[in-house]
Amino acid sequence: MKKYNYEYFASSPSGLEELLAKELADLGAKTTVVVRGGVQFEGSHDVALKAILFSRIASRVFKFLYQYEVNNEQDYYLGATEIKWKSLMDLEHTFRITTIFGDLPFERDEFRNSQFANLKLKDAIVDYFRHHEGVRPSVEKDSPDVSFLARIDRGDEKPYKATIMYDLCGDPLNQRGYRVSKTEAPVKENVAAGIIKLVKWDPENEDFIDGMCGSGTFVIEAALMAAGIAPSYLRVEWHLKNPAQNKPWTFLNYQWLTKDQELLKEFKDLLKEISESTAKGLEKLAGMKGRIVGNDLSEMSLISARENLREAKLDKVIGLTQVDARVLNPNQNKTLFICNPPYGERLEHGEEEKLKALYKGLGDHWKHNFKGHRAALFTGNLQMLKSVGLKSSKKHMLYNGDIDCRVAEYNLY
Ligand SMILES: C[S@@+](CC[C@H](N)C(=O)[O-])C[C@H]1O[C@@H](n2cnc3c(N)ncnc32)[C@H](O)[C@@H]1O
Repeated sequence: MKKYNYEYFASSPSGLEELLAKELADLGAKTTVVVRGGVQFEGSHDVALKAILFSRIASRVFKFLYQYEVNNEQDYYLGATEIKWKSLMDLEHTFRITTIFGDLPFERDEFRNSQFANLKLKDAIVDYFRHHEGVRPSVEKDSPDVSFLARIDRGDEKPYKATIMYDLCGDPLNQRGYRVSKTEAPVKENVAAGIIKLVKWDPENEDFIDGMCGSGTFVIEAALMAAGIAPSYLRVEWHLKNPAQNKPWTFLNYQWLTKDQELLKEFKDLLKEISESTAKGLEKLAGMKGRIVGNDLSEMSLISARENLREAKLDKVIGLTQVDARVLNPNQNKTLFICNPPYGERLEHGEEEKLKALYKGLGDHWKHNFKGHRAALFTGNLQMLKSVGLKSSKKHMLYNGDIDCRVAEYNLY
């Protein structure tokens, strides 16, 4: 039985936290707190590693390192100079700091400025190394070797609580590596995966059509899920081809991994497992031809989807069609029809009516031609949702970036 002796935080799009907690539990984690935008959990190091490699919902995974109380910016600096930075990063590594506030700091307080807080922490790290090693490491904003997150929580009164964490991932995990081409308003990869889970798509018994696939995010995420291919499969492949580069995750540079022989072995085993399950998954998908289909009316969107499918190695197994979603029929099998229509954020005169007609047209089409099937509509335009004119069986709230969105599910009889 593994001990739950380390604390981690996995961030996620808001609205998907419960699904993330479930994913983490399946990987062996014990959730301690679910907050808006993420899940705090306890687990052994390999559980965190699995979260990074297997979670379809997490955006990033952080490891808690230090926590201390601060009253002002000087405390923040002094507390940080007590941390043994040498055990957290190597001198030759570049680093980045991001400071966030758990709650809004008190008014007129120096901690209202995250840039200023970043600077204080950077000074503490640089001064620590100058003092102990005689040299200082460098800051790198875009692609650092080591990335720290500092969170300052206010509580009801001072002192604040400063928490220093490792960002184990670097680039967010939703960047799977297949999105080489974008259309307008693409949905984040982990939001798409989350929606497919929210509506409980059952790949064994239901086909999957995205009527307005844009750059192909939903069909790609659906295929990966159906085939049991880890969302990290492309990153894993890249890493195995370029082992000396210590990328694409920042944890590859951390003593968290490099000094832990057991964890290193586990990591290698997991990479092997992911490569093997990817090969098997792609074989499985070859037998599912025609069951996962993307459609879009726009030629540009289809060009983009095609490029992304190719990058994802799924171009031979996912079909693409080009018709108006309002004439697209279900497959012979029971079908889940997902649709993410344009939101119409900046509507010119007359366009609102057109958009209403599009949403209404979808509702009418489903009502008449999708009996016995299911539909799910994802939109950031809550007004337009009413134009569909069907009673939804369930509605879910979630955020795509900072846009307040809904997923409406329809059981069509
Ligand atoms: C918000 S985007 C979808 C983004 C997509 N989920 C992604 O991740 O890239 C909406 C898409 O609907 C398509 N579209 C608009 N009207 C359509 C129609 N009547 N039939 C099919 N596709 C349509 C647009 O071309 C656009 O690609």
